[in-house]
Amino acid sequence: MQVKRTPRRGPARGKGRAALSAQQTVPYLEMLKDGVCRVRDGYYTKTIAYEDINYSVASTEDQAAIFSGWCSFLNYFDSALPFQLSFVNHRSRGGGRCKVNIPMAHDEFDSIRGEYVDMLKRQIARSNNGIVRSKYITFGVPADGLETARPRLERVSSDIMGNFKKLGAHSRVLNGRERLEALHGQLHPGGREPFRFSWGDIPKTGMGTKDFIVPDSFDFRQSRTFRVGQSWGAASFLQIMASELSDKLLLELLELDAEMTVTLHVQTVDQTKAIKTVKGKISDIDKMKVEEQRKATRSGYDPDILPPDLITYAKDAAALLADLQSRNERMFLLTFLVVNTAPTRERLENEVFTVSGIAQKHNCTLRRLDWQQEQGYMSSLPLGWNGIEIQRGMTTSSTAIFIPFMTKELRMDGQALYYGMNALSNNVIMADRKRLKNPNGMFLGTPGSGKSFAAKREIVNVFLTWPEDDIVIADPEGEYYPLVNRLGGQVVKLTPSASSGTYINPMDINPDYADDEDPLSLKSDFILSLCELIVGGRGGLAPVEKTVIDRAVRNVYRPIWQTRPRSGCLFSRTCTRSCSNSRSRRPGGWLRPWSCTVRDRSTSLTTVPMWR
Ligand SMILES: Nc1ncnc2c1ncn2[C@@H]1O[C@H](COP(=O)(O)OP(=O)(O)OP(=O)(O)O)[C@@H](O)[C@H]1O
Ligand SMILES: [Mg+2]
Repeated sequence: MQVKRTPRRGPARGKGRAALSAQQTVPYLEMLKDGVCRVRDGYYTKTIAYEDINYSVASTEDQAAIFSGWCSFLNYFDSALPFQLSFVNHRSRGGGRCKVNIPMAHDEFDSIRGEYVDMLKRQIARSNNGIVRSKYITFGVPADGLETARPRLERVSSDIMGNFKKLGAHSRVLNGRERLEALHGQLHPGGREPFRFSWGDIPKTGMGTKDFIVPDSFDFRQSRTFRVGQSWGAASFLQIMASELSDKLLLELLELDAEMTVTLHVQTVDQTKAIKTVKGKISDIDKMKVEEQRKATRSGYDPDILPPDLITYAKDAAALLADLQSRNERMFLLTFLVVNTAPTRERLENEVFTVSGIAQKHNCTLRRLDWQQEQGYMSSLPLGWNGIEIQRGMTTSSTAIFIPFMTKELRMDGQALYYGMNALSNNVIMADRKRLKNPNGMFLGTPGSGKSFAAKREIVNVFLTWPEDDIVIADPEGEYYPLVNRLGGQVVKLTPSASSGTYINPMDINPDYADDEDPLSLKSDFILSLCELIVGGRGGLAPVEKTVIDRAVRNVYRPIWQTRPRSGCLFSRTCTRSCSNSRSRRPGGWLRPWSCTVRDRSTSLTTVPMWR
C-alpha cells in the first residue's frame, strides 16, 4: 500500500510554524460519496450545479421577472445558512464538452464526412477557446454530526432546486466524485491534468480524497501572486463603492475569455439585527449632525449648513431602514472574490488588468488580496469556506444585481447536430430535434443571410449522422438538387403537364384515404377548399356553389368508391351542373383552364388536372 505524501509545499507561515503540505492547504476534512463535505467539525456543505437561462436577450419585462425571482431566491437563505455562488471558467482538456460524433464509414461520402468533421472541429476549437463555464451554489449548515446534517442539507437542496425550477433553470446536486472533479479542475489550471479517481481507489491505495485533487505544489510566498503547479495565479476582491450597480458587471466578467473563478460568499444578517444596526448608525449620524450644528452656533454661522457627506449618509441610511422595514429586503454581507490563473506571469497581469478595467467601468475597484493569496484562492473553491473577512453590507436587490444568468446553452449530449454558434456565449449549439419538446423548425432571416445554406448544412449533417433517416425536400426554386445528386439521392421533377409523367394529383383517392372517417366527406371538404382557393376570389364560394361542388364530388366518387375501379369526370359533372344552373355561374370563372381525365388503377383512382 503506497501512501502518497507530498513534500514541503506552501509557505512557512511565521516563525516556528511547520510548512503545510498541499493536502493541508485545501480546507476541508472529509468528502463523502453523496456529495456532503465536512469542511470543519460541526459544519457540512453541499454543492448544486445549475444551468443558464435566457436573461441577456429577454425582454425588459422578462428581465424584471427573472430579477424579482432571483431576489426571492436570495431571500430564502436565512442567517443560519451561509452560501457561496461560484462561477468557474475553466479550460478543459479536449476543447470542451462537445465531441465530433461522425465516424468515417469508408464509402463514397468519406470526403464530405472529412470536410464536415474538419469544419466541426474548427468551430468547437473556436468556441470560447475550450473554456467551460460552470455555475455552482454551495451552502452549509452547522450540525453536531453527519446524521443531523444530512436531512437538513437534503431539505435545503430540494428547496433550492425548487427555486431554480421556478426560474426555469435546470439544477442538480453534485455527488462526491463530481465535487472532487470540480475542485480538481480549479486546482489544475490549464486543464492538462486528467482527473483519475474512483471510490474504490481509496481503500486500495490508502490515499485520501485530497491526494487525488491537489496539484504538485502551492507557493504562496509572494504577496500579490501565487503559484499552483506550473501556473500563476492572483486572488483579488471587488471593492464595491458605487451605490448603484449594473446587472452587466458580473456578466461582463464571466464573458471574458480567461481562466478564472468569481466567487460570492453571502451571509444573511438576521433581520432584527440588521434593523437594529441601521438604527444605531442613524443615531450615530444624528449625533454627528447635532455636533456640527452646535459647532455652527458657536462659530456664528447657519446651523443648517452640514457637511455634504453627512447629508448623503443620513439619506442612504434612512432609505436602507425603509427598505428593510417595509419592502421585502434583507441584509446580506457579501465577499466578492476574483481568482485569475494563467500560464505565465505576464498573461496573468494582463488578465487581471482586463478584469479591473471592467470593475472600473462599473464604479468598483478590483483590489489584490495582499498577503492573503492563499486564503483568497482557497475561499474561491466551491467548498463553502470563506477565509476572507472583507465584507460589504448589501440589501437583497443590490446583491441580486449580480444576476448569474446570461443565455441558455443548447448543447445536447449523444448524437446531436451542429446548428451554429451562440452569438452571446460563443458556444457551439448542438441539438437533436427529435429529442426536443417540439421537433419542428424554421429558418428565419433577411434575404441572403444564409437560410438555404443552414438548411443544406442540416441536411448534410442528418445524412452523415443518421443515414437511416429519410430526407424529403420540396424545392420549388430548384436550389437543392445539386446537393441531392451529390449525396446520391433521387430527384423527382413534378410538373402539371401529364407528359412528364410525374405529378401530384389533389383529386387522388385511395382505399386508405380516411382512417375512420367517411372518405367521401373528407374528399368533398378537400375539393371544396381547393376550389375556394382556385376560383373563390376574395369573398370565397357562394353557398350554392359549395352545394353544387359537394354534390358533384359525391356523384363522382361514390360509384368509384363502391365499385372500384371505375372512372368519372369531376370537372364535366361540375361544369354541367354549374352551367345548367345560371345562379351559380361565375363570369369567366368556371370554364377557365380545367380539363381532366381519369385513370384507373387497381388500387387507386387518379384524376389528372391539366392546365390548358
Ligand atoms: N455559414 C456560412 N458560411 C459561408 N458562407 C455562407 C454561410 N451562410 C451563407 N453563406 C453564403 O451566403 C450566401 C447567401 O446564402 P443563402 O443563399 O443560403 O441565403 P438565403 O438566406 O437563403 O437567401 P434568400 O433569402 O435569397 O433565399 C451564399 O452564397 C452562401 O453560400
Ligand atoms: Mg434561400
